[in-house]
Amino acid sequence: MEKTYKRLLSNNKRWVVKQLRTDPNFFEDLAKGQQPEYLWIGCSDSRVPANQITGTTPGEMFVHRNIANMVVHSDMNLLSVLSYAVEVLKVKHIIVCGHYGCGGVIAAMGNKQLGLIDNWLRHIKDVYRLHHLELDAITDETQRARRFVELNVVEQVIDLGKTSIVQNAWQKKQPLHIHGWVYDIHDGIIKDLDVTFTGVKDLPAIYHFSH
Ligand code: CO
Repeated sequence: MEKTYKRLLSNNKRWVVKQLRTDPNFFEDLAKGQQPEYLWIGCSDSRVPANQITGTTPGEMFVHRNIANMVVHSDMNLLSVLSYAVEVLKVKHIIVCGHYGCGGVIAAMGNKQLGLIDNWLRHIKDVYRLHHLELDAITDETQRARRFVELNVVEQVIDLGKTSIVQNAWQKKQPLHIHGWVYDIHDGIIKDLDVTFTGVKDLPAIYHFSH
């Protein structure tokens, strides 16, 4: 047991050596500050590492991860990350990235009581309720779960657009695009769902703030 965690520390030392060999100023430059262009909202799943699957390096991506890549309006963690990313770092793109085979989404499709996590999964169930006609019509359970993953991402893109943080940025003409993607753990490919929001016009009128 001891050995498995110590491996991480020796990996780290090797990584530092490798980085410095390619660029002696690598850490010094990063220490000066960050100007990431992207905010990533992804799942906590260990198989979906944001930087690795997008080929981005330290400093390029501000990252928030939780179970099933949710945008929950009362989540102070998400709201603080979003506020800092949009208002201070002025990221240009927010990417909500779900993934097929998401344990959170699959659990939300079931009716078993699981404990504390039920309070989180309920937000995903709300997505199912919104789209139950389409989802119930898919008889194959795997296909239904895959579509549910996609629809969940679409709803989180909408949920981001609803926030005052995003709408105020759009109002100030700050360039900010919100994208919905799904990563396939079976082949490593990211699918763009083409649900990009670039302004308040993309949002149902009931959510518009009048300025
Ligand atoms: Co997941």
